[in-house]
Order: sequence, then C-alpha cells, then structure tokens
Amino acid sequence: MQEVVYNKFSKTIFFYCFFLETYLTMAFEEKKYNTEIVKVDPLNPEKEIIKKAAKLIVLGEVIGFPTETVYGLGADATNSHAINKIFEAKNRPQDNPVIVHVHSIKEAEKSVTEFSELAERLAKAFWPGPLTMVLPRSDYISPEVSKGLSTVAIRMPAHSVALELIKNSGVPIAAPSANLSGKPSPTKAIHVFKDLQGRIPLILDGGSTLVGVESTVVSLINNPPVLLRPGGVTIEDLKKFIPNLIVPENFSSEKPLSPGQKYRHYSPETKLVLVINGSTADPKKIDSIGRRFGGQPVVLCSNPDHRHDLHVIHLGNNPKEIQANFFASLRILDDASFDVGILEGIEPVGPGFAVMNRAKKAAHKIIVLD
Ligand code: TXA
Ligand code: MG
Repeated sequence: MQEVVYNKFSKTIFFYCFFLETYLTMAFEEKKYNTEIVKVDPLNPEKEIIKKAAKLIVLGEVIGFPTETVYGLGADATNSHAINKIFEAKNRPQDNPVIVHVHSIKEAEKSVTEFSELAERLAKAFWPGPLTMVLPRSDYISPEVSKGLSTVAIRMPAHSVALELIKNSGVPIAAPSANLSGKPSPTKAIHVFKDLQGRIPLILDGGSTLVGVESTVVSLINNPPVLLRPGGVTIEDLKKFIPNLIVPENFSSEKPLSPGQKYRHYSPETKLVLVINGSTADPKKIDSIGRRFGGQPVVLCSNPDHRHDLHVIHLGNNPKEIQANFFASLRILDDASFDVGILEGIEPVGPGFAVMNRAKKAAHKIIVLD
C-alpha cells in the first residue's frame, strides 16, 4: 500500500516537474533577454558603447549591429557555441552557413588557407564594402560557421560601427542578416527588435543602412568564379575585375550552388504580387489584381505622382533609392492594413538586378502585365 501511494505521489511530482520544465523552457526560449537598443553614432561610434558590445561578443553572446548593407546578427566566429546561438536566435536552417566579417586584410588572410591574387585585387577594389568572397576556410574559424563546408564566406563591411566592433572584440564576427529566417532583411534597428526581441541582449542602433540589400557573394573556389548572390556590388562593377564571372540564370535553382539559394526569403506576411514587364498605373488593372488575390490592394512603385486613385507605398526615385528602401517597404506593407501588395518590377540592371532577385524571392506570385 505504502509502495503504491509513493509511486502515485512520485508520478504526480514527475508529471508536475515535466510540465513546469516544458512551460519554463517555452517561456524562456522566446524571452531569454531583456533586449536593449542603444543608439550609436554611425560615423564616430562612442568608445564606451563599442566596448560594452565587444565585451558581449567576447563572452560568447549574440548581438545586432549595423553594416552598410543590412543589420547583422553577430557572434565570435572562432567560438562554435556562440555560432550555434545565432542559428537558435533567428531559427536559421542548420545547413545554411554564415558570413564572417573582418576589419583588416590580415584578419581575412588568417581566416582562410589561401588568399589568392584575385582575392587580393577584389579586396583592394571593393573592401571595405558589400562584396563577400568564398575561400578555403582555415582552422582559425569555427567549422560551425560553414556548416560542414570546407570554405568560408568573408567580407569587410564599410561601416564604422561594424569595423570598430570587430576591432574591439579581437576576433572576426560571424553574422547573417539580423531578421527571423524567412522575413525581410532588417535595414533599421527597430526591424531587428521586432524580430528578435527577447532573443538577444543588445542591438546597436546606427540608423538606417545605406545600401539596403545584402552583400554580393562570389565564390573564388571555382574557376572561373561564380556569382552566388547578387547584392550591393553590381555585376557590372564585378565584371570589370572578373570578366569571365559566371552568372547563373536562376538563383533559386533546384541545384543550389550556395545553401542560401534554396530557402524562401524576405516574404512579408501580406500577399505580395510582383508585376513584371508592365506598369501598375491603371487603377482598373490594379483593382482586378486585388480582387484576384484577395482584397484591397496597395501598389509599391517608384513613380507615385500619376496614381491619385490608388494607395501607394513609394519605393524611391531611382534604382539606388529603390534598393535602399526595398526591405523597409515590405515591412511597411505588413504594418499597413491592405490585403495585397502589388510590386512594380524594375529593369534588372545595376542595382536593379539585386532588387529583382530579392523581389522574386519575396513574391507569392509573379505576373506579367501587358
Ligand atoms: O550584407 C550581408 O552579406 C549581410 C551583412 C550582415 O553582412 N549578411 C548576410 O548574411 O546577408 P546571410 O547569412 O543572410 O547570407 C549569407 C549568404 C547565404 O546565402 C549563404 O548560403 C551564403 O552567403 N554562404 C555563406 N557561407 C558560404 C559558403 N561557405 N559557401 C557558399 N555560400 C555561403
Ligand atoms: Mg539573410
């Protein structure tokens, strides 16, 4: 009898503990931190703020910080445990490697087994700046960064906050974009906060990022080199240094060259329809697209002046401005109360190439208007 009572009692305790633990794990997984946003001067970052942020990196924490392209979610690239925390914080698929950020060529050379002559020339031309090179990884960099690959993607960002943070941490910083996986990349600190609040201790707020899309990724492992992702450095500029650069026709191919190519990206919650080869100025056509895709439409376009009868989110006056505002506009779309976003495509040249790459990945539907 005693035995039975004891068993019942211990079973009850066991289940109570089990549910309590599950509840606490769920609660704390989402809100482990009281996330702090600290404003920092983007041109002359305050030393104490950088020191505080660098200390967190050295302690193996993950923080949000601005680069010239988009906000990054950074951790010590030599610390496997810290890298794992990045993947946890943003729910990143485990097979998608992250980019390593350095503040000097010396640090880049230490991170790879061979910094080729072409890598040197590209670094001279584009660093600091939005060009990422894939090179053979050295043991200095944690294998977790590359998720099973023998290579590493590496870049030197053109942003004083990022550069000072890396310098003060004393280690290269691994950082994907600081959004929840699948969401539009963050170009303002508030975007990072909305996605990762409670999951990281600190976000450095250096204002809006200037480029607005991520870096161009090129693999120097292959010969000729291959473009893995269009981005802040245009293909036209890159080809001046790599005339035989291979530019795949389809970046979301069935057989991805870079793990990041196979995942759906950047999507707003609101249904997004990308219109190519046509203007979205005709209210009748817009209404009919709206009806077809579920309701009240808003047009995302670059020339709002002739559209008095339509709701419009202005993307910018030229391809560079459109690039800078693109991701933020997708988030504005989600904050507004429309049912369908109708995005007017732009010519895929110069910055337009990277914009259209992101637009195609973000869109739920692509239609051709005539
Ligand atoms: O501008 C940027 O590049 C931003 C800022 C924060 O620097 N970072 C960024 O990281 O966009 P992420 O993780 O969102 O994109 C990295 C891309 C992915 O498509 C990934 O698959 C690819 O680079 N990548 C990383 N390491 C690679 C490697 N070793 N080989 C091939 N592709 C790699
Ligand atoms: Mg990303």
